[in-house]
Amino acid sequence: MKPAIEVSQLHKTFGRSGQALCGVSLQVNNGEMVALLGASGSGKSTLLRHIAGLITGDSEKACCIRVLGETIQENGRINRGIRRHRGRIGFVFQQFNLVNRLSVIKNVLVGNLSRLPAWRTLLQLFPEDDRRRALQALDRVGILDHAYKRASDLSGGQQQRAAIARTIFQRADIVLADEPIASLDPETSRTIMELLTDLNKWDGVTVVVSLHQIGFALRYCPRTVALRDGHIVYDGPTEALTRNALRELYGSSANELFGDVAEAPVRANGKPNSVFGPRPAASEAALEAQV
Ligand SMILES: Nc1ncnc2c1ncn2[C@@H]1O[C@H](COP(=O)(O)OP(=O)(O)O)[C@@H](O)[C@H]1O
Ligand SMILES: [Mg+2]
Repeated sequence: MKPAIEVSQLHKTFGRSGQALCGVSLQVNNGEMVALLGASGSGKSTLLRHIAGLITGDSEKACCIRVLGETIQENGRINRGIRRHRGRIGFVFQQFNLVNRLSVIKNVLVGNLSRLPAWRTLLQLFPEDDRRRALQALDRVGILDHAYKRASDLSGGQQQRAAIARTIFQRADIVLADEPIASLDPETSRTIMELLTDLNKWDGVTVVVSLHQIGFALRYCPRTVALRDGHIVYDGPTEALTRNALRELYGSSANELFGDVAEAPVRANGKPNSVFGPRPAASEAALEAQV
C-alpha cells in the first residue's frame, strides 16, 4: 500500500524572514498517529499547510509532496487536480476556523478544504442524505444537541469537536491537526485528543497532529517527529523522548516542550484510550427528528 504522506526535500523561505523549512523529508504510513512536536516558530504549521496543499515550497528546489500516492505539489507547483485530493485531507486548526454566523451543521456540510461546488455552498442547498450524515458526525463527536446553534455560541472545545465532525463528514483519510488543543484547557484537550485517537483507531484515519508539549504526544501518539528551526531533529518512538533527550535536542528551549509531566503514557494494552469508542449512536428517531 502507498504511504499516506510522503514529503521529500521540502524547503520553504518566506521573503526576508528566512527559511521556515530546510530540506524536510518525511514519510507517514497509513493508519499512523504521529505527533509533530516543536517550539513556536519551528515550522509545524508551515509543514502541515504544505501537506494540505495550501502553500507551495520553494520552486528552485526539487521538492515533492505526495498524499495517498497522488502528487499534491512538485518543485513549488500545486498539482492541478488538487481539489479532488483535498477532499481526502481533513484540516483541524488551533482556532477552529468555523464560520461563526453559520449553524454548526452548516459548518459541517460546507467543509473547509472544498468539496461542494461553490454555487451549492452559496445557496446552502444540501441533499437530505448529506444532512443525515452531518448529524451522524455531530453525534459521533458528542454535540448532536448543538447542531442548529450558531457556531459562535459554542465553547472552544465544542467548536473543535465540530471541526472534527467536519473531517468525519468529509470522509477524510488523513487528518492534519495544527495545534488543535493549544487554545483549550487540559480536560477539554484530552477530549479532543481522544476523539482524534478514536478516528485513528476505529476508522483507520491517518492523523498528524502538531503539539508544542510532549505530554500529550506521549499519551496519544506512538511516533513523534520533532522540528527545530525548520529541521527534523528526531523521528521515532515518542516514549524515547525523555526530558534529557529533549534537552539534548533543544538545549535551553526544551523547557517550552515539557508542559504537564502528569501526562504519562497509558497505551500499555494498545487499545484506544478513547472514552468514545464505538459509542452508542443517537437513536434513529432522534436523528430523523433533526434532519
Ligand atoms: N506567512 C508567513 N510569512 C512570513 N514568515 C512566516 C510565515 N509563516 C511562517 N513564517 C515563519 O516561518 C517560521 C515557522 O513558522 P510556523 O510554521 O508558523 O511555526 P510553528 O507552527 O511551529 O509555530 C517562523 O519563523 C515564522 O515566523
Ligand atoms: Mg503553528
